[in-house]
Amino acid sequence: MSKRVYIETYGCQMNFADSEIVGAILIKHNHQITPDLQQADVVLINTCAIRDNAEQRIRKRLGELKAVKKRRPDLKIGILGCMAERLKEQLLQDDLPVDLVVGPDAYRNLPELLNRVECGERTASVLLSEEETYAEIDPVRLGSNGISAFISIMRGCQNFCSYCVVPYTRGRERSRDPQTITDEAQRLFDKGYREITLLGQNVNSYRWDCNGNITDFPDLMQRVAQISPMLRIRFATSHPKDLSDKLLEVMAANPNICRCIHLPVQSGSDNMLKLMNRKYTVEWYLGRVEAIRRYLPDCSITTDVIAGFCNETEQDHQQTLELFRKVGYDYAFMFKYSMRPNTYAEKRLHDNVPDDVKTRRLEEIIALQGELSLQSNRRDVGKTFEVLIEGTSKRSDQQLFGRNSQNKVIVFPREDYKPGQYVMVQVTDCTSATLIGKAVK
Ligand code: 5AD
Ligand code: SF4
Repeated sequence: MSKRVYIETYGCQMNFADSEIVGAILIKHNHQITPDLQQADVVLINTCAIRDNAEQRIRKRLGELKAVKKRRPDLKIGILGCMAERLKEQLLQDDLPVDLVVGPDAYRNLPELLNRVECGERTASVLLSEEETYAEIDPVRLGSNGISAFISIMRGCQNFCSYCVVPYTRGRERSRDPQTITDEAQRLFDKGYREITLLGQNVNSYRWDCNGNITDFPDLMQRVAQISPMLRIRFATSHPKDLSDKLLEVMAANPNICRCIHLPVQSGSDNMLKLMNRKYTVEWYLGRVEAIRRYLPDCSITTDVIAGFCNETEQDHQQTLELFRKVGYDYAFMFKYSMRPNTYAEKRLHDNVPDDVKTRRLEEIIALQGELSLQSNRRDVGKTFEVLIEGTSKRSDQQLFGRNSQNKVIVFPREDYKPGQYVMVQVTDCTSATLIGKAVK
């Protein structure tokens, strides 16, 4: 029987891309996706497990849904994604309003599982796969602006950074058939999309072997970039150890590959990097930054960093601040270390930096990055950028916003411009978060 399904997504871009795959699988089996919880027969929550606060947020949401389910006992609730994979059947045993638990590699089973849940069963499907890439599934674009879209190109991760839960929730690394990727990109372009982001936990280790004929990540980028010079291409996320010169060469040769590299560093201390099992040193990382600047002088560089990992000393922390100053990141995602069950760090190291010290170190990094972002934006004042318009500014309907190739948001007067268009915008002013400009002919 056809169900109305409401999907709520937490976590990374990969999770949002997965929800679009889930949507496609359900629609193919005659279910409907509804944007309205009140209308739904089934609520699916696609969850994140990366830090404890991500899980707490979802538990809080489940508390709210418990009240809804009390009023409407027929409402079925399913947990998808990383928290489902991490906690498995436990989610059915706890005092939570959960009927269904489905891990990231089991979404093809959803239609059948929904039937079982309909018959009153409470069930979990959490097997990880070494092959599943959902390659031929054409995702439904949920909540899309019709301009930018994600394409998932590989799944899983086996880097085993010692703090990270992802290898346990998303399993082995596997790449998707490149032909299905270029087909999906072409279809999006034909529908009017102008920006795609190729996604994977570690896109740089993308590798497809067809009878000894290898397509690596730079080869794939080259193929996707050929679809049209009007199609912008972004990618996330790269592990520094795999950021090759070959990729930088391909980027330099294709102006429609965006000038923005997200290169998570995690710490500026070699001791920490070793404990984190990151497989590079600060010196080596800086060498990669230098290579980016050499091939792509106008490229922005952004990062992820963790404050207060196991055994982190004040000196380690100072080295992180120093590295931030050296690189001059354009933007950063900054986190307090959160111990995750079953990781190497949980089993073998001690979460021994007191919470108030973690908080203070994180605040120092955030304050420094605020200055660096402002400096980066100030350097852009006076420059003119090609901007892909995404929509109306939140602040004023007389203003549009879009992004430049470096992924910076630019706000400018609407005039007669429309979302989806490219326009040249001269930057006249900035804050630490936004560039402000005016369209030039
Ligand atoms: N605690 C805090 N931050 C973490 N990250 C990954 N695992 C943890 C953890 N246990 C951060 C890393 C990663 C980003 C996605 O989340 O910086 O790059
Ligand atoms: Fe969260 Fe990581 Fe899973 Fe993404 S892959 S949803 S960040 S735990």
